[in-house]
Amino acid sequence: MIQTVRGVRDIPPEESGRWSFLEERARRIFAQYGYRELRTPLFERVELFSRAVGEATDIVEKEMYVFEDRGGERLCLRPEGTASAVRSFIETSRHRSLPWRVFYMGPMFRYERPQKGRYRQFHQIGCELFGPEGPLADAEMMALVLRLLRAIGIGAAVTLEINSLGCPVCRAPYREKLVNHLESVRSRLCGNCQNRLERNPLRVLDCKEEDPALLAGVPHMRDHLCAGCESHFQGLLTHLDRLALPYRLNPLMVRGLDYYHRTAFEAVAGGLGAQNAVAAGGRYDGLVAEMGGVSTPAIGFAMGMERLLMLMDESLGAPEVADLYLVAVGDGVVEAEAVRIAEGLREKGIAVEMHLGGGGMKSQMKHAGRSRAPLAVIIGQDELTEGVATVKAMESGSQERVARGELDGRILALLGRSIG
Ligand code: HAM
Repeated sequence: MIQTVRGVRDIPPEESGRWSFLEERARRIFAQYGYRELRTPLFERVELFSRAVGEATDIVEKEMYVFEDRGGERLCLRPEGTASAVRSFIETSRHRSLPWRVFYMGPMFRYERPQKGRYRQFHQIGCELFGPEGPLADAEMMALVLRLLRAIGIGAAVTLEINSLGCPVCRAPYREKLVNHLESVRSRLCGNCQNRLERNPLRVLDCKEEDPALLAGVPHMRDHLCAGCESHFQGLLTHLDRLALPYRLNPLMVRGLDYYHRTAFEAVAGGLGAQNAVAAGGRYDGLVAEMGGVSTPAIGFAMGMERLLMLMDESLGAPEVADLYLVAVGDGVVEAEAVRIAEGLREKGIAVEMHLGGGGMKSQMKHAGRSRAPLAVIIGQDELTEGVATVKAMESGSQERVARGELDGRILALLGRSIG
């Protein structure tokens, strides 16, 4: 038997209603803020991510699914959505006005060690906003994130953490200071971080392996921002306060992707274990120019759908139930006629489930009960000859015989819907 690949899973019909619920809520809220959907390919050129996300990141160094196609092109499954959005923005930017607001939802692929809340194929919902430079855009995006988290009932379980990562001007001298400090404690760092010291020292700050006491004395980017970055961050805090959006400053949050400038944020939840970020994002003002476009400031975020669903109440997005279960008891003629009746009812917008072949009255009624449909419609030989159907309200158990010509009207009335 061939099984699913490690770190990858099906979303069975019992669960998919919850996924649709989450997607539908997100779409509704994105529309409120003027975002439109961008659908990008699941695979891209490898360089798109090595350049955008950064050569020295875990994603590019060891997590991408890279392959060569039959034409010899080096491609990879997308590990995230921002690089593709930037590529798409640049490819078509001559034709559009700013701001450009897009959202996406779909699978991403990273060869990570699978654990609770971490998969090799996972799903993100994200937004990217191109154009606005000021901190008001950052605040609006955080408002959107919190609104969506509240709309799926997990607002109270989540804390918004923010930080500034500075810009190339102030980050270079800060990086030097940080490296000097970390060098003095090098031998106490984990093996991974000792390697990171040269290539990506900022990542040491949010390494889960390190002793918090060791990190307590490190210099913070926040204290080394240039005037422009400091005023942007101050502006953001003022806007967040004005909008009464709750947040926590986290000077150790650095993000695992290299493209961030200035604002970085994460929404973290208790109760999820080590993989506690349900949403994450930030500003990437330099990326469009770096990727060959006309310099354009931008900001975005992405949420991990699996993690949101772990926090969402079980009752949200329960699978849809049919309006009625059609029970056909008799020979082939009865069954064929029952299918015709079902089609007529569906024509009126009524959702009909049926057994399709075999099974006595008792067993089919059991199926009707299990389907949780509020009504059962029974067609037997008697009903067929008399031109009627028996309609049973499952909860009360009350039954009535309804003439075939009046069946759809009566069913709609019992369902509390209007005709037409
Ligand atoms: P990221 O932090 O790599 O950022 O991922 C964003 C979110 O995706 C995480 O907070 C988490 O909820 C989810 N996630 C990431 N990896 C996994 C995994 N292996 N299994 C399950 N969930 C996962 C980005 O991807 C950026 N593109 C976000 C962004 C958009 N920044 C600006 N615009």
